[in-house]
Amino acid sequence: MTSHDRPLPRLVLLLSGAGSNLQAIIDAIEAGQLPARVVAVISNRADAPGLQRAARHGIPSQVISHRDHPDRASFDAALASAIDHYQPDWVLLAGFMRILTPQFVDHFRDRLLNIHPSLLPAYPGLDTHRRVLAAGEREHGATLHLVTEALDAGPTVLQGRFAVEADDDAATLAQKVHRLEHQIYPAALALLVSGQLRIDQGRLFYLDQPVPAEGLQWDQVL
Ligand code: GRF
Repeated sequence: MTSHDRPLPRLVLLLSGAGSNLQAIIDAIEAGQLPARVVAVISNRADAPGLQRAARHGIPSQVISHRDHPDRASFDAALASAIDHYQPDWVLLAGFMRILTPQFVDHFRDRLLNIHPSLLPAYPGLDTHRRVLAAGEREHGATLHLVTEALDAGPTVLQGRFAVEADDDAATLAQKVHRLEHQIYPAALALLVSGQLRIDQGRLFYLDQPVPAEGLQWDQVL
């Protein structure tokens, strides 16, 4: 069997908002840079513009609202079973604004990735650009990481960074971070799909060597 006969790896993407990372992944696939398929997009918000992006590219989508569920556990159970239906190889969080239960995380162990707008472990949580400016940081960036029970604290897969300029404000930082995210998310997926990057029981390997704690750096894997 040649690589051409193999079914394409299946991606399910979870979002709550704009979906520019979804778009970057779709663009990479359509440009032939990422041999994979986005088999479904799931949103917890019916008004997420990312859903329209999915529709424009013929990708099935589904809304599962947390408001229709009495608690986090039942929302996560509904979400997990919707995702399972699509039999994904990877589940990608891209601006999905819900905290996931340990049960959910465990169910998708080694298959669940998230993109975060800071140089983790610095600045987990929300409002990262403003906090980076307030602290006078000289660098900022984006981190793709494996999702574990601890919020924004799973092993770093790939990180990209840039210098904070004197005239940067929260809006310019957000723009620069987004630009970087749109490069590193598809690039990391391409490494995963090719097998150059492997995830095994929460540990990451790049070209069969353990990935250091700070993750792969974007300028090393370009
Ligand atoms: C990104 O900045 C990501 O880091 C954060 O949410 C944002 C999602 O943006 N988790 P988009 O919806 O992909 O445009």
